[in-house]
Amino acid sequence: MSTATLEHPPAEADAIQSFTVTFLIRRFDPDVDTEPRWQDFDVEMYATDRVLDALHKIKWEQDGSLTFRRSCAHGICGSDAMRINGRNRLACKTLIKDLDISKPIYVEAIKGLPLEKDLIVDMEPFFASYREVQPFLQANTAAEPGKERVQSVAQRAIFDDTTKCILCAACTSSCPVFWTDGQYFGPAAIVNAHRFIFDSRDDEAKVRLDILNDKEGVWRCRTTFNCTEACPRGIEVTKAIAEVKQAIMRGRP
Ligand code: SF4
Ligand code: FES
Repeated sequence: MSTATLEHPPAEADAIQSFTVTFLIRRFDPDVDTEPRWQDFDVEMYATDRVLDALHKIKWEQDGSLTFRRSCAHGICGSDAMRINGRNRLACKTLIKDLDISKPIYVEAIKGLPLEKDLIVDMEPFFASYREVQPFLQANTAAEPGKERVQSVAQRAIFDDTTKCILCAACTSSCPVFWTDGQYFGPAAIVNAHRFIFDSRDDEAKVRLDILNDKEGVWRCRTTFNCTEACPRGIEVTKAIAEVKQAIMRGRP
């Protein structure tokens, strides 16, 4: 502890300022509600707090029934994607100082997936599409004994961007095609197919390209760029989808 802290406690003017922020949260309890409803909560916050901190404060201090997913709290696990002021974001990466707190902050579940409770949706349709594109390395020959499968820096760079996906569903659930057609694979599944289609060590690109050439595959994309704007990892999602379309037309990666 510094001497200044011991002898000179900060003057009131130096204290970090807090604000009362109003959150409007779209609630839904399947046991009692027939329709979702909005509920407001006032929360004391600092500029450096995140929306996830507000949800925790509400749950721990005001209403323990508020239901949401989160795990890492640091933008890695992808479990707390939600619509904040109408835009898909991770609650743990959204700082209060970046929002206009002169108005209420709207928080609701992501769209296009079945609503289960409050901010939680059923992610199974999202993961079913992910599994369908075979998102794992498939090499048909064994590596030389005692050797790694060598890949050049340039070969790795081709799919570097799509390795960053954390499967948060912010892209897929911001896509208007996905909202109207739940059968569409969606941007996240295509991103994860891209990650292996363009991997020089993989031998099954053709299988994935055939899967995505389906009527619910890449051709449903209307290039609205919502996915790229929503991605908290900064992945160029629309570009990845365009590269998969080109690979299908070429018949190879
Ligand atoms: S591409 Fe981005 S927005 Fe989509 S699931 Fe992956 S990390 Fe989330
Ligand atoms: S809680 Fe893990 S990404 Fe936000």
